[in-house]
Amino acid sequence: LQVLFVLSEMVPYSKTGGLADVGGALPLALQQLGVDIRVLVPWYGRPDLNEMHWFCSVNAPYTQETAELWLTPNRPGVFFLRYPDYYERDGGPYQNAQGQDWPDNPRRFALLNRVAVEMAQGRVSGLDWRPDLVHVNDWQTGLVPYFLDLETRIGSPRPATLFTIHNLAYQGRFDPAIMAELHLPAEDFHWQGTELYGAFSFIKAGLIYSDQISTVSPTYAQEIQTEVFGMGLQGLLQQRSTQLTGILNGVDEVHWNPRADPYLPAHYNARSLVGKSQCKAQLQQSLGLEAQPDVFLLGMISRLVEQKGVDMVLDILPDLLQRGMQVIILGSGEKYFEERLQELAAVHPGRLAVRIAFDEGLSHRIEAGVDAFLMPSRFEPCGLNQMYSLRYGTLPIVHHTGGLADTVVDAGDFARDEERNGFVFSFAHSDDLHHAVLRAAALYREKSAWRHLQKQAMAGNHSWEHAALSYLALYHLILERRKSAQ
Ligand code: ADP
Ligand code: GLC
Repeated sequence: LQVLFVLSEMVPYSKTGGLADVGGALPLALQQLGVDIRVLVPWYGRPDLNEMHWFCSVNAPYTQETAELWLTPNRPGVFFLRYPDYYERDGGPYQNAQGQDWPDNPRRFALLNRVAVEMAQGRVSGLDWRPDLVHVNDWQTGLVPYFLDLETRIGSPRPATLFTIHNLAYQGRFDPAIMAELHLPAEDFHWQGTELYGAFSFIKAGLIYSDQISTVSPTYAQEIQTEVFGMGLQGLLQQRSTQLTGILNGVDEVHWNPRADPYLPAHYNARSLVGKSQCKAQLQQSLGLEAQPDVFLLGMISRLVEQKGVDMVLDILPDLLQRGMQVIILGSGEKYFEERLQELAAVHPGRLAVRIAFDEGLSHRIEAGVDAFLMPSRFEPCGLNQMYSLRYGTLPIVHHTGGLADTVVDAGDFARDEERNGFVFSFAHSDDLHHAVLRAAALYREKSAWRHLQKQAMAGNHSWEHAALSYLALYHLILERRKSAQ
């Protein structure tokens, strides 16, 4: 089985969020199951050019950009797309250093999609390979299924397509004038085509023209068919509900392993948590928190945006600190949230530590060192940090939504005891979050009950192998369905 996997960010080379973690792990897990998988991702400046070699040039039809594909011996099968004018800039993959979207995003990502199609159709010189299926991810790759549909209209056979939604909130919506610039036929601009509320939308194209849609948790797959979570696309997703599945992401068990994590000052496992206490002490010390081994210490690592419920955390923080709890927040995002958090930290030294940064090492030390993890997301397609928390014996406090609902079971739930592993609240409201944190804090004082939950959390298993097996089954299903339709 030959698969082309296309995405816009991938660890360890680029990352703004969980999509990059998926890109770093899922293709490898599929490879281990025997899938011949190639990955296409833009090159934003990493890995170092001297670790890479040039593979070939590719001409984008219509728009006429000449891009290059580069390879690294460290990750065979990963093709880095080089086009300096688009991808080699100071700033992030989607935004400049001030947090504004790059104005030429439609052209930047259309090029990624064009080159993916050249690979998919076997038109890349020196690459004697054609995929059976192209697996694309989020709006940045939404035009691939559409371009492939255009290929069939001129009589070229195409591979099957799977579009995975990692986040429906980002829709790649642009002024329809972009269609002419990208040489796209105006007749597809309608409600069953590329049009979304008057805009030209990359995600809409992906959802309409792909053979199958998936998303990153079973609960989110249901939620996005409703008005509350569908972001205006619920009607389309309801229509396609028989071709819409949810597959939970996994955890990279090498990278997130408290027994051997190189970022940690001490290691531990479910049988002995002495190392976790050492991580806590070290974390308190390094962030300037009062050295109190028994204080209830909460952590949060997040993009600071409304989705993640940062505003709810801001509402309840003063009370939590007043009650003597300590809180650590690592994140970056909207200036408003960054500033409010920093203001609060300034008035609560020793209790609240706020770091506005993107810091991989610190994120591991927080997962290991805190007692409980805050994840009050309004919606969460999958969420990775609650799964990292579980593995690190850090009990997650989550809103009952998306992948959070699929991975965390409340300590007081009617569920079987051995499934309980955290704290869940039902409504995305600060009062509900507050109540859940107070419940957690109360249980924390009952050492053996807390210890019991930690053990259960750490025993959970969300492996990428498991997820990859589900994707493999889905690939086969898509291919069989196409065969029988032909
Ligand atoms: P999303 O993709 O919506 O941001 P996920 O929970 O799926 O949410 O993934 C977020 C990923 O990004 C996790 O690996 C998390 O640890 C990481 N992350 C988010 N913010 C930071 C930060 N400020 N520093 C380091 N890692 C971060
Ligand atoms: C998105 C979602 C997050 C998910 C990640 C990886 O960024 O917001 O919930 O875990 O993609 O699939």
